[in-house]
Amino acid sequence: MLLSRLKNFIVNAFQKIYVSNIIRSIDRDIINKSNSSMIQEGWGQFDAKEIFGSSISQIAQKSINSNKIKYNNSGSWISREIDESVLKTILSSEKFEQIIFDYLGEDARLDDIYYWFKKELIIGENISGSWHDDNVGHRFKCYIGIDVSESAPVTEVVPKSHLKPYKFKIISEFKRYFNISESISNAKTKLLKHKKDVITIFDTNLFHRGVYLKTSGFRNVILLEFISRKKSNLICGKTPCGPGQKIDGEVIFNVKNESLLLQSKLIDKDILKKLSNGTFQYSISNLK
Ligand SMILES: [Fe+2]
Repeated sequence: MLLSRLKNFIVNAFQKIYVSNIIRSIDRDIINKSNSSMIQEGWGQFDAKEIFGSSISQIAQKSINSNKIKYNNSGSWISREIDESVLKTILSSEKFEQIIFDYLGEDARLDDIYYWFKKELIIGENISGSWHDDNVGHRFKCYIGIDVSESAPVTEVVPKSHLKPYKFKIISEFKRYFNISESISNAKTKLLKHKKDVITIFDTNLFHRGVYLKTSGFRNVILLEFISRKKSNLICGKTPCGPGQKIDGEVIFNVKNESLLLQSKLIDKDILKKLSNGTFQYSISNLK
């Protein structure tokens, strides 16, 4: 058992080391060329009403049919079927688009999007995930709060740790894989609290982890990822990125107004395909 886990770790580590050169070469100029106000710290929080011009939490709550929400055993519901009203709110905001392109450059695309609802859980003790970066170099994770309780899980980051070029961190990854804890002084970290109608963005090249309290409150968010399209197409399958986090993963856009997708600079048309039922499939498997 331990031997097979060790073997898995080694195979995985080789894959990550193999893609690290690709990641570094594509990421090379991001820090120097960026004119984003977030570039030095690697994270930022924005008022969603200010960025989208309307309350996205109200729009999302209206569009999500509560019968559709089915929590799994760990108390989560994840859905990649995204409604038109939510997409329209996000994709038609030039301010939002600018936040993404200012940091990641014009080659960035929406790489994944899903509703991620977590219900309140009694965990029994305060627990924290393991420290890691996401092994994709510079990439945004963007949480849009739909409904979030005061004691909901938060994200802890080490500001400025993203400034070092990506490298596979074998020791941290080993500790993470085998659940060996690693501590970093609180003085060096920042807790990012997710809140209703707040957009929380962080570069996943930052060292980060999830923090869960004893009684972990509910957290209903839309999670979006943005990354260089060239990079995601090259490294998907070897490290988690791309729609659905794998080559044949997908996001389904159910829209009547096609121009919403076709005119958005954040949507990569090379991976977008109209299906016979009228919905749009967004998947790296559609690349020609
Ligand atoms: Fe992560």
